[in-house]
Amino acid sequence: MIKFPALVINFKAYEEGTGRKALRIAKVAEKISKKIVLCPQAFDLNAIAKAVKNPVFAQSVDPALPGAHTGSNTCFAAKKAGASGALINHSENKVSLNTIKSLIELCRTYGLTSLVCAQNLSWVKKIVKLKPDLIAYEPPALIGGSVSVTSAKPSVITKCVKACEKIPLLVGAGVKTCEDAKKAVELGAKGVLVASGIVKSKNPRKVIKGLFESM
Ligand code: G3P
Repeated sequence: MIKFPALVINFKAYEEGTGRKALRIAKVAEKISKKIVLCPQAFDLNAIAKAVKNPVFAQSVDPALPGAHTGSNTCFAAKKAGASGALINHSENKVSLNTIKSLIELCRTYGLTSLVCAQNLSWVKKIVKLKPDLIAYEPPALIGGSVSVTSAKPSVITKCVKACEKIPLLVGAGVKTCEDAKKAVELGAKGVLVASGIVKSKNPRKVIKGLFESM
């Protein structure tokens, strides 16, 4: 299980977060804290899981069991590769509510922590009913931008925290500074989900350290 407040790094498909560069970011994160959660690309997951002690989550999994499903990323294979969790329903990789439900169940079956993304309060409320391990609120319009969810949507964050009841809520989209991370926790979030602010930074070490230590 992940420790709170949590810093989750989504490497996405950024060139700066691929292959050897991904491994470098993972090792930098590990030196700062072994609690930082890493979400590398599928092709890099096993190498990173072997190289660092941090929790490693798959960026995406498919609702397939082991078998004749060419091209599927199964929860079974993610677990075998060293993943301890999976992102589900990221805005850049959306799935139906039924698929979210199946994926949460598959994660449970294979001992993976399910982190389900929600684009707004109404999706947070739908996802809460499916009882994932974690929920991340990420408004799509702010993803990859310069305005943080914590400054643009503070009241929505508070409502999402309330709607989540006992399920820990993370927030993401535009999170880059120590102030953003601090504000997230002040608003009741249990951590932040960050991509471009770290992966595309000229100094990932400084950003990771700052975000982690501000929460
Ligand atoms: O999953 C994290 C993400 O979508 C946020 O992206 O680049 O705004 O930190 P970014």
